[in-house]
Amino acid sequence: MKDRFTVVAPRAVTIVKGKNALLWDTDGNEYIDCIAGHGVANVGHCNEAVVAAITKQANELITCPYVLENDVRMQLEKKLAAITPSNLTKTFLCNSGAEAVEAALKCARFTTGKTDVIGTVRGFHGRTMGSLSATHKPFYKEGFEPLVPGFSWVPYNNLEKLEAAITEETAAVILEPVQGEGGVRVADDAYLQGVQKLCNENGILLILDEVQAGFCRTGKMFACEHAGVQPDMLCLAKAIAGGVPLGALVCSDAIKPPIAKHGTTFGGNPLAAAAGLAAIQYMEAHNLAVAAEERGALFEKLFTQQTFSQVREFRRKGLMIGIELREKVKPYLDALQTEGVLALPAGPTVMRFLPPLTISKEEIERVVAAVVKVLS
Ligand SMILES: Cc1ncc(COP(=O)(O)O)c(C=O)c1O
Repeated sequence: MKDRFTVVAPRAVTIVKGKNALLWDTDGNEYIDCIAGHGVANVGHCNEAVVAAITKQANELITCPYVLENDVRMQLEKKLAAITPSNLTKTFLCNSGAEAVEAALKCARFTTGKTDVIGTVRGFHGRTMGSLSATHKPFYKEGFEPLVPGFSWVPYNNLEKLEAAITEETAAVILEPVQGEGGVRVADDAYLQGVQKLCNENGILLILDEVQAGFCRTGKMFACEHAGVQPDMLCLAKAIAGGVPLGALVCSDAIKPPIAKHGTTFGGNPLAAAAGLAAIQYMEAHNLAVAAEERGALFEKLFTQQTFSQVREFRRKGLMIGIELREKVKPYLDALQTEGVLALPAGPTVMRFLPPLTISKEEIERVVAAVVKVLS
């Protein structure tokens, strides 16, 4: 057999089946999944509503190019406009988070005629050349330079540094309301409100990247709702379609669409759009934003009942949880896997938990018990 093109070091487990918050491997071992595809499976693995929608749509129409209208795609666009902040009206559908960010960066330049974008320290926005250029961590970029010029980074949650970084050429500010890959770091409401004000005063576009934090994960449909902030562009993907690849850039009327200049073949295909509609309807019907906050609060209550010398900080927004250690997390993640819990790193010293929002209270109790055991 030829070598596989492996870009991550996979764990020694082959997953073959999933249901709600559980996964099973080839040997029939069961795991509680706190990875959930890096925050994709918010509605649970193999959610019945999503399975039914794709099964039905697969028998109706699977592909339809953007040059033709499509009923399901239009319904999804309408739905996204309805659930995102009220100033966001227009949607560009694509296939991933990086593509949503890429579209936002292109729209920022196209709309303003300016070139530069300010991001934040520890910000992560994807791995295509544009989204990688917006990403802060040098590790992801080494070996791929030269990247797109015009990007700079300021400390997160620091308004003064942002103000000082603005120039005549600043087209946009891009940031995550909760940094995921950067270690589950939560933006203060006052900071986000200040960023919006600064952007408005200086004619700069605000791009919020909710690829990981969106779709009920933080206890609201979108994390920006906590601060009541209205971005000019909102980047979405991951949980949008219950596990089917789909991304979206939702824009305000201030954004000039680059007509016939930007596009994608598969974006908004009827199959993914049907999955998206079903997943969003499920989130609304089952109040997953409320569930995320309840389950997250239970995790916090149970975990913070004890103290551990290795733990530097516990951070949480809804059911987006980071436990920062004073040491490397890898051995603890391996031990958790042995205990039947799959969790993620967020940088070398942060354990990250992004379980499906449909996880039961009893499963949360089992996860916390396993975390306590491996830390003890
Ligand atoms: C905040 C954020 N933006 C963008 C991306 C890139 O998304 P994708 O992997 O779907 O390209 C990610 C992926 O982890 C992310 O967390």
